[in-house]
Amino acid sequence: MFLIFYECCMTLTGPFKQLLTMDNIPEKGALSDDQLEIISDGGILHRDGKIIETGNFQELKEKYDTTKIEWVEGDYVVLPGMIDVHTHICWAGSRAEDYALRLSGKSYLEIAELGGGIWDTVEKTRKASVEELADLTEQRANRLLKMGVTTIEVKSGYGLSVKQELKILKAISLVNKRIMVDIIPTCLAAHILPKDFKGTELEYLDLIVEKLLPEVMSQNLSSRVDIFIDKGAFSFIAAKSYLTKVKELGFDIVIHGDQFNSGTATLANEVQALSLDHLEAADEQEIALLAAGNVIPVVLPGASLGLGEPFAPARLLLDAGTSLVIASDWNPGTAPMGNLLTEASILGAYEKLTMAEVWAAITCRAAIALKLSDRGILRKGNLADFNAFKTDDYKEILYQQGQLKAGMVWKNGEIVI
Ligand code: NIG
Ligand code: FE
Repeated sequence: MFLIFYECCMTLTGPFKQLLTMDNIPEKGALSDDQLEIISDGGILHRDGKIIETGNFQELKEKYDTTKIEWVEGDYVVLPGMIDVHTHICWAGSRAEDYALRLSGKSYLEIAELGGGIWDTVEKTRKASVEELADLTEQRANRLLKMGVTTIEVKSGYGLSVKQELKILKAISLVNKRIMVDIIPTCLAAHILPKDFKGTELEYLDLIVEKLLPEVMSQNLSSRVDIFIDKGAFSFIAAKSYLTKVKELGFDIVIHGDQFNSGTATLANEVQALSLDHLEAADEQEIALLAAGNVIPVVLPGASLGLGEPFAPARLLLDAGTSLVIASDWNPGTAPMGNLLTEASILGAYEKLTMAEVWAAITCRAAIALKLSDRGILRKGNLADFNAFKTDDYKEILYQQGQLKAGMVWKNGEIVI
């Protein structure tokens, strides 16, 4: 009796021409495409948003013969939902003006010195209400979900005062409750030293530690803290003292570093950051330091495309034995595209990444960078988050550089598009 009830609540989705589970992929190092586990004519059996079993569709159908079947007509390749581990999608206004200035030869730092850059977005974001910000963020998160991104990290960082940063984190939290996609919030109050702060960078960071982070923690708004370390942002010395205190408070740490100048890996290793993100300027020494530690390199091709700058040395990182995660960095300044699949495909072409390395970087390895053990791999017990692409060969997806879009997206076992 119980068994019948149990079985009738399950759904078998398929058949899929190829099912790429992303299971059994090592956490670090170079990968070859023959390491991809491919189930031909596959199916996914799921219940209450979780995967019960993956396997051959026909065999699953026979094994669980009272199961509800969600038939998929035509040839499709299925992969885990994509995970974007680094975005700044909670902002108001546009920076098209900055972009035009860059096209006419001004650099990112020059534009910031002229009053554009991050500060421009801070001024616009400060004027928006929680509701307005939540609406803008929801639209962007839904756009990502429709492209097959089922988990999205979202940073604050355009408020830069206790009150404004709390407003942004509240907006992000509202969106998380409203929509199907899972949002992982990160506090980036240490984005730049706000122009209206009358004090030193150390004093500003102390204010964050003493007044903002306890609130963030008590209101359960985020368990992660990020800081931008570079020329025009925070110094190593200030960052080290800040991150030491942040760690004592119990936050996980991620770092924006090595975007324009190299040298952040030592600090990232010391504070046991989960990830070091950007790395466009990382040299051989940085790569060796990352290979010797456990900090995950996150590369952001969208920022290279937005700035017209070289890509991070993804190939060298993998060959040195590190993990590699690719994220969109979607933000109004450096990375306006907001299309993870296109950006990852392009990075793969320039950096000579195998298809296995690219897919791992936006699925299973990305899940590890967010400390999420229940996604990124299609296997028993994980979330039923998956995308189906209309093709009979997985190689077509990256080959078409983002133009072959997910035709169907499932989040927690429910079809979204
Ligand atoms: O990841 N580098 C720092 N922060 C963002 C850019 C933010 C902006 O320009 O608005 C980034 O590139
Ligand atoms: Fe960023």
